[in-house]
Amino acid sequence: MKIGFFDSGLGGLLVLKAVVKALPQYDYLYYADTANLPYGEKTEEQIFVLTKAALDELFARDCLLVIVACNTASAETLRRLQDSYLKEQYPDRRVLGVIVPTIEEVVEQESQSALLIATTRTVESGKYERELAKMQGDIAFKAVATPELVPLIESHQMAAATDLAVALLEREARAGDVVLLGCTHYILLKDALRAHFASTLTFIAQDEVVPKKLSHYLENHPEITSRLSTVGERTIVLTEHRPDYDRLTTEFLKGAYPAE
Ligand code: DGL
Repeated sequence: MKIGFFDSGLGGLLVLKAVVKALPQYDYLYYADTANLPYGEKTEEQIFVLTKAALDELFARDCLLVIVACNTASAETLRRLQDSYLKEQYPDRRVLGVIVPTIEEVVEQESQSALLIATTRTVESGKYERELAKMQGDIAFKAVATPELVPLIESHQMAAATDLAVALLEREARAGDVVLLGCTHYILLKDALRAHFASTLTFIAQDEVVPKKLSHYLENHPEITSRLSTVGERTIVLTEHRPDYDRLTTEFLKGAYPAE
C-alpha cells in the first residue's frame, strides 16, 4: 500500500519532494484538489466535505497512510475526520497532519515568541495557537493571515510574493521570533526570507519538518511500515488540469528522484 499526500494545490509537492528524498523506497500518491483551490478562503464545512472526498479517493487508490499537507485542511477538519469518519469507515488507515509536527519543531527551537503566517482559515481556526498552548504555554504567539500570497505564488509572481512577505514580516515580526510558514505554498519563499532576515528571524518550513517526523512515525509504527509497498512508484492526481501545471509540477519536483 502507498503513502498518500493531500493538498489543495501543487504546493504540497514541495513536501512530497523532501519526503521522497528522505524515504525513496516507498510508493507515493499525490492528490491535489486543484478544481477547488484555494481552500484558504472557504468555510469550515466546505473544507470538511472536500477533504473527506479527497481522503475517500486516496483510500480507494490504496493509500494506507495519508499526510494532509494542506495546513488549511489540517487546521479545520483533521481532528473531526480522525474522530468519526476514519474510525467508522477506515479503522485500519491513518491520516497525519502537518500542524502538530510544526509546533513540535517550534518548541525544539526554545524561542520566546512565534509568529504564524498562513491562510485566513488556518489563522481563524486557532489550531496552531491551541496546539502550542498544549505543548508550551509560555511562548508568545501571534498569527497573521496572508491571503494575498497564495494567488501570487500560484500565478508565479515570486518577486511580488517575496516583497509582500518581507513587508509583512518587517511590520509584524519581532526580533528573535520563530516564523512558522503555515501554508504549503510559502515553502517557495523560505530561501529569500531566510536571506533577508538572516540575523533576526528563524523560519520553520514544512518540507524540512515533515520528512523528519514521518521517518520517526514509520520507525515507531512497524504495523504500518510493514504494510507499505516499496516499488518506488510515484503518482500525481489533480482534480483539474491547467496548462501551466505540467511546468509547475516538473519545477516543484526537480531533483526529487535519485535518478535525476
Ligand atoms: N495548501 C494550502 C495550505 O497549506 C494553501 C492554499 C489554499 O488556500 O488552498 O494552507
